[in-house]
Amino acid sequence: MIKSYIKSISFHVPEKVITNDDLAQVMDTSDEWIKTRTGIEQRHSVGDQCLGPADLGAIAAKKALDKSNTNKEDIDFVIFATSTPDYYVPGSGALFQEKMGLNTIGVLDIRQGCSGFVYALTVADQFIKSGDYKNILVIGAEVQTTQLDFDNEGRGTAVLFGDGATAALVCPSVDDSGILSSHLHSQGKFVSELGTEYPSSKYKDIITVDNVKNRDHHIHMNGREVFKHAVRRFPEVILEGLTYNNLKLEDIALIIPHQANLRITQAVQKKLDAPDNKIFSNIHKYGNTTAASVGIALCEALEQKRVERGDTIVLVAFGAGFQWGSIVLKW
Ligand code: ACO
Repeated sequence: MIKSYIKSISFHVPEKVITNDDLAQVMDTSDEWIKTRTGIEQRHSVGDQCLGPADLGAIAAKKALDKSNTNKEDIDFVIFATSTPDYYVPGSGALFQEKMGLNTIGVLDIRQGCSGFVYALTVADQFIKSGDYKNILVIGAEVQTTQLDFDNEGRGTAVLFGDGATAALVCPSVDDSGILSSHLHSQGKFVSELGTEYPSSKYKDIITVDNVKNRDHHIHMNGREVFKHAVRRFPEVILEGLTYNNLKLEDIALIIPHQANLRITQAVQKKLDAPDNKIFSNIHKYGNTTAASVGIALCEALEQKRVERGDTIVLVAFGAGFQWGSIVLKW
């Protein structure tokens, strides 16, 4: 049976850095509060450059193509994951396709929040397994900092998120490396605990002055509820992947989780009884980059040689919906 693998992966973050101290200049917060509760020290931002996820995704994708000496003409499908799309309609995939100058190939948009990259990679895996596709670009990209509420009312979420993009080139495996399995879940019962409700087609005016006044167009989160479910679902779906493949934690070189919050990552590590070197974190540098975070973390884990050829690793994510999932793969 055909298997898929990540032939190359890259990332891009905009140059501008917003530190916790910068945030403390505009809202009632502090470096100490943010660091102790989230592990975040800074995040990157597009600032006022008027760049969307399609722009950041294109920069990351060009790097991934260069790394693997792949011509853009050989790309036969794009899967674009974002929760902060450039347009309401169409999805960012079409904008990305145009920015990259790709052929008139199919593009698919994924709206699975923080689990976007894991969902997108899973779809790519299935398309490759079908035998019909050979070079799929999977993008996870977010521009969060233009959407956040930087007034005091928004401080519970504004300090968490950052901008960035990742791009993975997914191809048929040439040896025994590649995706071994993926496990996706969702529980829409908790949709109101985390998300951005407006603009919404449910209402006559897609966005009203009242919505803006109530700050309904900014992301809202019930932090404690998210924490509670995340620390349950992350370990559960990691173990689901291990059990499916008849593997033990000792067989895994590294777990690369969505970078939601350092305290969530630490609680997951504790629940799994995993040693410090088994679970990756880079949230201090980028904050939560939502659909981009797993890919950015994988890139940095590779740069730091924490993942080597032949290693088995787990990618895992949890986010709005709630939606969560894991991928077990041999690098
Ligand atoms: N700076 C200073 N004070 C703040 C800030 C801030 N940025 N944000 C909230 N506070 C205040 C609150 O107003 C509150 O003040 P009060 O006691 O006077 O009312 C106090 O801090 C405590 O607020 P809580 O919301 O109860 O803070 P908590 O200790 O729960 O920490 C946090 C909030 C860090 C978000 C926590 O709930 C958490 O870790 N949740 C996990 C959710 C998460 O990290 N999600 C990431 C995005 S979603 C995802 O990726 C899956």
